[in-house]
Amino acid sequence: IGQNVIAYDEVVSTQPLAHEAAAKGAVEGTIVLAELQTGGKGRLGRPWHSPKGTGIWMSLIIRPSIPLPKTPQMTLLTAVAVAKTIREETGLPVKIKWPNDIFIGDKKVCGILTELNAESDRVNYLVIGIGLNANSLESDFPSELAQIVTSLRIESGESLKRVTFIQRLCRIFEEEYDHYLRAGFERVKQEWENHSYTIGKWVTLQTISQQLEGRAVGLDEEGVLMVEDQAGQIHKVYSADVNYRAN
Ligand code: BTN
Repeated sequence: IGQNVIAYDEVVSTQPLAHEAAAKGAVEGTIVLAELQTGGKGRLGRPWHSPKGTGIWMSLIIRPSIPLPKTPQMTLLTAVAVAKTIREETGLPVKIKWPNDIFIGDKKVCGILTELNAESDRVNYLVIGIGLNANSLESDFPSELAQIVTSLRIESGESLKRVTFIQRLCRIFEEEYDHYLRAGFERVKQEWENHSYTIGKWVTLQTISQQLEGRAVGLDEEGVLMVEDQAGQIHKVYSADVNYRAN
């Protein structure tokens, strides 16, 4: 992971560039990096604020030979790798909010966007976009974001060496990924649950088809979130917008 790095000053988004590189045969572990994204993409079609020089805006190409339904596991693995890297580099107490937001306290510091290229039920490649607010100051965020996002620098008071961070992230990701391919999802599941902000909390979920309220009880062996409603019934949630409430 990270043996091949394609770095840009300014791009619209690193995601389509990584797709292009992957389609042209870029090796597994290729990373596309940019200093500035003018059209950074978040999940669910949202924009991702990616100003110059303050963040880590990167897309990672991987080619796991796993069936399609297992791809969410790769996102969970990525969140675990990022969370561990932040802990090791800064000592900050990070939490993962399902499915893949990294939080410090109740503010988001990193988001992950996984995009997939597949044929029938086999994965060709995945592009995993990682957006980490590294050295932003509060004044760098637009006012509508200031209350809900943070950066490693704001939290730790120290500026982060982005290259060192990326090197460590590549190492940790590779270690998790090798283990996952050899031994399966169990370790990622456990590490994810250990870092989880979501498990044990009462949540309101808005999926495409329904609204659901209940307590997040864990991940199943596939990596799908399990939510228990008031009637004690377990619902499996593949994708949704999550809100948390007290108690
Ligand atoms: C989210 O939390 O909504 C996911 C945010 C993902 C942002 C990263 S930054 C690098 C890559 N390029 C993009 O345009 N998006 C991802």
